[in-house]
Amino acid sequence: MRLLVTGGCGFIGTNFVYMMLEKHPDMVIVNLDKLTYAGNRLNVLPLEKRLGGTRYHFAHGDIANAELVAHLLVSHRIDAVVNFAAESHVDRSIADCGPFITTNVLGTQVLLDTARRLGIPKFVHVSTDEVYGTLGPEGKFSEETPLAPNSPYSASKAAADMLCRAFFETHNFPVTITRCSNNYGPYQFPEKLIPLMILKASRGESLPVYGDGQNVRDWIHVSDHCRGVELALMNGRPGQVYNFGGNAEKANIEVVRIILRALGKSEDLISFVKDRPGHDRRYAMDYSLAAKELGFTPEYSFERGIAGTLEWYRANAQWLEEVQSGAYRTFMDNWYGERR
Ligand code: NAD
Ligand code: DAU
Repeated sequence: MRLLVTGGCGFIGTNFVYMMLEKHPDMVIVNLDKLTYAGNRLNVLPLEKRLGGTRYHFAHGDIANAELVAHLLVSHRIDAVVNFAAESHVDRSIADCGPFITTNVLGTQVLLDTARRLGIPKFVHVSTDEVYGTLGPEGKFSEETPLAPNSPYSASKAAADMLCRAFFETHNFPVTITRCSNNYGPYQFPEKLIPLMILKASRGESLPVYGDGQNVRDWIHVSDHCRGVELALMNGRPGQVYNFGGNAEKANIEVVRIILRALGKSEDLISFVKDRPGHDRRYAMDYSLAAKELGFTPEYSFERGIAGTLEWYRANAQWLEEVQSGAYRTFMDNWYGERR
């Protein structure tokens, strides 16, 4: 299989590219990434060194660039697209939602149009559980739950998700949609709850918990999500939506306390701050369809997953510091500049 993966220098994309190249020795991956603040080419540098130009190709660019997308699809004889590329952080979408519309909506439209025009036989679009909006104390989201996004981020993801549905219904274009809950694990940018709290706790800084800290997320280890996307790619039905979840509902304050305990830090570092506007109260995923049709089940318990994640951030403290400070950008400019 020859895959075009978009956003492969971000958190989930990086994990997915490593996993797929390792598990599928005949697979070729072209990674199209714009390298926004969240895209870190350094993540995949070992792959560039080992497999660059053979089984791994990097293309620096925008999914909204139709000419570039068409060129990559044709020149690499791509037979499937997996679309991870997105603006992904809710708080940023509240501050400025423009880039979310451009990338998440228009970018997805360009990818869909171009892939359809060129007859690409498989397209997996990575959506999110946030398109469903929020839950009360009971129940779970199923694929039949009506979409009710509450943040500009989730509205842009819902628009892209609906566009994918429309391409299947209208054009019979073979797109499969995945909706997953909150991921954690290696390479996550330290603006998201878990790596941010690890970074702040390890520096002895205060940990900002929004509102009362009782918002609940269904945490899934990134490896489990990547396996879900792999299953959707290999065996997912065209036009179908698949939910993935981690079976690990936790209130934010509980997650923060677990991190503090594991790092031997005091709970005095916790600081309750003004709530996020439109803050979804609870997410929980019913992934029984993916279990039945794809054989998906999360392998990581939260306890095992968070222990490994804390260990990864401990062993990669420099990565965390460099990403936070932006130093990785300078490093990459120098690294590639010297080779131009
Ligand atoms: P991320 O922000 O860490 O990475 C996004 C990547 O996309 C970056 O490498 C960035 O450079 C790239 N990108 C952004 N705009 C681009 C553009 N116009 N063209 C090409 N590349 C571009 O995001 P993530 O957390 O890895 O999420 C990946 C996908 O999974 C997103 O679509 C997100 O909505 C979805 N998702 C995330 C989670 C989660 O918990 N993180 C859960 C469910 C679904
Ligand atoms: O559910 C899937 C979604 O999960 C993905 O689609 C998004 O791309 C991803 O960013 C994530 O969205 P959340 O808004 O749930 O993740 P975040 O890490 O930003 O926040 C998790 C919870 O923690 C949320 O209830 C807000 C809270 N929070 C977050 C931050 C950054 C805090 O209390 N303090 C913080 O500083």
